[in-house]
Amino acid sequence: MKANIVLLGPPGSGKGTQGEMLSEELGYAKLSTGDMLREAVRNKTPLGLEAKAYMDGGGLVPNDLIIGLMKEKIASLAPGTGAIFDGFPRTVEQADSLGEQIDVDLALNLDVADGEIVKRLTFRRSCSKCNAVYHLEYNPPKRDGLCDKCGSALYQRDDDMEETVRNRLKVYREKTLPLIEYYESKGRLVTIEGVGDIAGIFAKVKKAVE
Ligand code: AP5
Repeated sequence: MKANIVLLGPPGSGKGTQGEMLSEELGYAKLSTGDMLREAVRNKTPLGLEAKAYMDGGGLVPNDLIIGLMKEKIASLAPGTGAIFDGFPRTVEQADSLGEQIDVDLALNLDVADGEIVKRLTFRRSCSKCNAVYHLEYNPPKRDGLCDKCGSALYQRDDDMEETVRNRLKVYREKTLPLIEYYESKGRLVTIEGVGDIAGIFAKVKKAVE
C-alpha cells in the first residue's frame, strides 16, 4: 500500500517539481489542482471561465468549486496506488473534505523564504502540454523555449508577475498556513528545507516518503 501525500508550502516552493519527480520515480498518481484549473481555463470550460479571475489576481478559487472537482478525482483513484496532492488542500475546509474521503499519511511542507520565491516565479517557464516546469537560471530547458520532455513551447504563467506573486504569498499566509498546524496536530507533518539543489531536496523528500 502506497501512502497518500499532501504537498504543502508557499507558491514556488517546489511542490510541482518535487511532486513530478516522486510521481515519475516512485509511480504515484499526482493530482495538481493548479494544473487542472489551468487546463480548464485553456479549454474555456464553465469551471475555467469562473476560476480565471481568481487565479489571475492571485486569490483562491472558491472552496465549493475545488471540493466538487477533487471529490470526483479522488473517487476515481485506484485503492492503494498512493496519491500526491499538489496544491490541494489549501484551506481547512478543503483539508476536512479530503480527510472524509481518504487518510492522509504524510503532509510534506517545503519551507522557502519569500525573497527566493519571487526570484523563482518571475523566472519560471511552464509547459502547457505536459505541465513540466523550468527555471531560466536554476533549471533551464536544454533547448531555449522548448520542453525537454515533450518538445512543446514553454510559456510564462499569467500569475507569475511580481505583484501577483506577492498577493499569492499574502493569500497563502492567510488561508493555507493554518494547514501546517492542522497536519502537525494529526502527527502527519514533515517539514523540509526547500532551498538548494533540486536533487538534494528530492533525496530528503524521498527519505520522508519511504
Ligand atoms: P498552483 O498552480 O497550485 O500554484 P502554487 O501553489 O502557487 O504553486 P506553484 O505552481 O506556483 O509553485 P510550486 O510550489 O509548484 O513550485 P514549482 O515546482 O513550480 O495554483 C495556481 C492558482 O490556482 C492559485 O493561485 C489559485 O488561484 C488556484 N488554485 C489552485 N489550487 C487551488 C485550491 N486547492 N484552492 C483554491 N484555489 C486553487 O517551482 C517554482 C519555480 O522554482 C520553477 O521555476 C522551478 O524550476 C524552480 N525551482 C523548484 N525547486 C527549486 C530549487 N530547489 N531551487 C531553485 N529553483 C527551484
